[in-house]
Amino acid sequence: MNDQIFEAVVTTVSAEGASHVAPMGVRYQAGQVVLMPFKPSTTLANILATGHAVLNIVVDGRVFAGCVTGRRAWPTLPAETIPGVRLAAALSHVELRLAEQVDDPQRPVLRMQRVHEVVHAVFPGLNRAQAAVVEGAVLVSRLHMLSAQKVDAEMAYLQIAIDKTAGAGEHEAWGWLREAVAAHRAKAAEVPR
Ligand SMILES: Cc1cc2nc3c(=O)[nH]c(=O)nc-3n(C[C@H](O)[C@H](O)[C@H](O)COP(=O)(O)O)c2cc1C
Repeated sequence: MNDQIFEAVVTTVSAEGASHVAPMGVRYQAGQVVLMPFKPSTTLANILATGHAVLNIVVDGRVFAGCVTGRRAWPTLPAETIPGVRLAAALSHVELRLAEQVDDPQRPVLRMQRVHEVVHAVFPGLNRAQAAVVEGAVLVSRLHMLSAQKVDAEMAYLQIAIDKTAGAGEHEAWGWLREAVAAHRAKAAEVPR
């Protein structure tokens, strides 16, 4: 059986202080938060440079869809106990310190110790459109590896949850994802000169 994975957003800062926002699947193991960034990764480079990251629990699908469609400038606030930032939109955040790194040519494993945790807002419950936006963001982040037929079939199924349960934020996020699929198709159809 696979490990249970939770989709969250990791914020990091570079050694020079530039902040970075990236959706990441995380595992919770033995009280730690386990990250597995694919190389190359700004998140990985920043964590190795600073030893810290922040895990943001987010239900605003625009952050997930935005990050995979070139919209990464999400408002942040300073972390409370480590050098770093957390997302202003986070329902809760966990400040993390790198405890152990297992290197790998493709996908290193970063075991992060929880340093400080804060709850900012109540989880309002499961929303199917938010889940659909996260699924759509995963599809868009893998457009180069997936057939057009598979992407179309999955987007058509996810559209049902968007039509039935989305709020304004999910509609906006879904629009960005559809635009990204269309742009990818248009680029693929360009005739090389
Ligand atoms: C829901 C979701 C989960 C993701 N999980 C991972 C992950 O576990 N590891 C990873 O390297 N990229 C993951 N990605 C893709 C990254 O967010 C994206 O490639 C990002 O740019 C990471 O590279 P960076 O650290 O250079 O920003 C995920 C994307 C989405 C939408």
